[in-house]
Amino acid sequence: MSPKARSKRGTKAAKAWDGRFQEPTDPLVEIFTNSLESDLQMAAQDIRGSVAHVHGLERAGLLTSRETARIVRGLGRVAKEIRDGTFRAKASDEDVHMAVERRLTELVGPVGGKVHTGRSRNDQVATDVRLWLRDEIDSATEDLATLTRALLQRARTDLDVVVPGYTHLQRAQPVLLSHHWLAYAEMLERDRDRLADTRKRVNVLPLGAGALSGAGFRLNRRAVARELGFEAVTENSLDAVSDRDFIVEFLSAASLIAMHLSRLSEEIVLWSSDEFGFLKLPDAFATGSSMMPQKKNPDVAELVRGRTGRVYGALVTILTTLKGLPLAYNRDLQEDKPPLFDAARTIRGCLAVLAKMLPKLEVQKARMRDAAGGFSLATELADYLVERGLPFRQAHTVVGRVVGFCVENDRDLSSLTTAELKLFSPDFEPSARRRLSIDTAIGRRSLVGGTARGNVERRIKELERSVDGGGRRRPQKRG
Ligand code: ARG
Repeated sequence: MSPKARSKRGTKAAKAWDGRFQEPTDPLVEIFTNSLESDLQMAAQDIRGSVAHVHGLERAGLLTSRETARIVRGLGRVAKEIRDGTFRAKASDEDVHMAVERRLTELVGPVGGKVHTGRSRNDQVATDVRLWLRDEIDSATEDLATLTRALLQRARTDLDVVVPGYTHLQRAQPVLLSHHWLAYAEMLERDRDRLADTRKRVNVLPLGAGALSGAGFRLNRRAVARELGFEAVTENSLDAVSDRDFIVEFLSAASLIAMHLSRLSEEIVLWSSDEFGFLKLPDAFATGSSMMPQKKNPDVAELVRGRTGRVYGALVTILTTLKGLPLAYNRDLQEDKPPLFDAARTIRGCLAVLAKMLPKLEVQKARMRDAAGGFSLATELADYLVERGLPFRQAHTVVGRVVGFCVENDRDLSSLTTAELKLFSPDFEPSARRRLSIDTAIGRRSLVGGTARGNVERRIKELERSVDGGGRRRPQKRG
């Protein structure tokens, strides 16, 4: 085709990159390769990145101050259209980057075509995702803090409630219900810590890497980084456009969050069953059955548990996408965003609904206490014998026989007389029977990490300080 014919062709849906092409894109390919539906979600970040890039171009003498002002104003108008929902995408807008640039050029004229100087969509998209994820990490950190506060509030309210602690889902030893809630607060503290750590590696600027080898202009990358709140700039352009480790890290942290929420939800499901009867669900957070009139179902907790699969799925998706990719950018990387966006939205939804439901759970205090005593106090008797000098193994055997006797004769441990206890060991004195108390058993566990009340109260205070930003795990400020 002659240069003249070339320049005439393609006036229909001209593409930013079609200079070397002689045939228009097949419509099916246009649909197949398009990512706008998903990546339009990071339009605000795309525009923020472009504004900083344009300022960088101005500093490098590649744009006049008038051109810069005109482009920045145009970008502001595009941002507004997207925010207001008046932005109209075109079929030829391959992705958010092309859509924004196309609209910018419509608004400000050919000078809009200068915005992409010294930049490729490869370093641009990596920048956008990092900006998007940084915001999302900050919001998820806040959501984690909100749920932690709900757990701490529960822990304060339920300080005088005892519940059986379980191993193998068999009653094991009594614990304070507050101690149980705090176990989840500890998990969420670690989750916040992991997000803060991930954020450090998210918060690095790839812009300036160009397509793969570094932009061909001497741009001051550190100044752009400062403008966008990035703490550092990437040190290798090939790595910069192909690295998605930070997405894997985030999805791995998100998977742990989802897993923690799933475990909490499973307990809400179990505990609200008639069999346990430890919790009553608030009506506003339960659902009925379309057929069985008596049903009150824990669907919220079930769905939190169920959505964990989506988050794990996102992690496996991105790991699989990255495996075996040669350097540097490959279009496969476009597949990173839908699972990332979905997983982030999923965990934030789960955190929010649990934080709202938790304070409304009705704790069935008497039922919990009833279940917490009985044979769950057998360890207390063994510890009693140990204090009298019996090796623990022997004490364990002696108390095992006592329990066996009780089971056979349908007796409670607390119903045994000192004389009966003495049949199993001469070391049992009347004081042994006083040890068969739930409150004594709990009170004796006052070492660090134990379920004694003083310990639990101290930890509540520490976690309250931490979650309100006074502790070591303060979420980092937004850039
Ligand atoms: N939509 C692409 C993505 O999400 C942007 C980068 C495309 N780059 C390219 N040279 N085709 O990864």
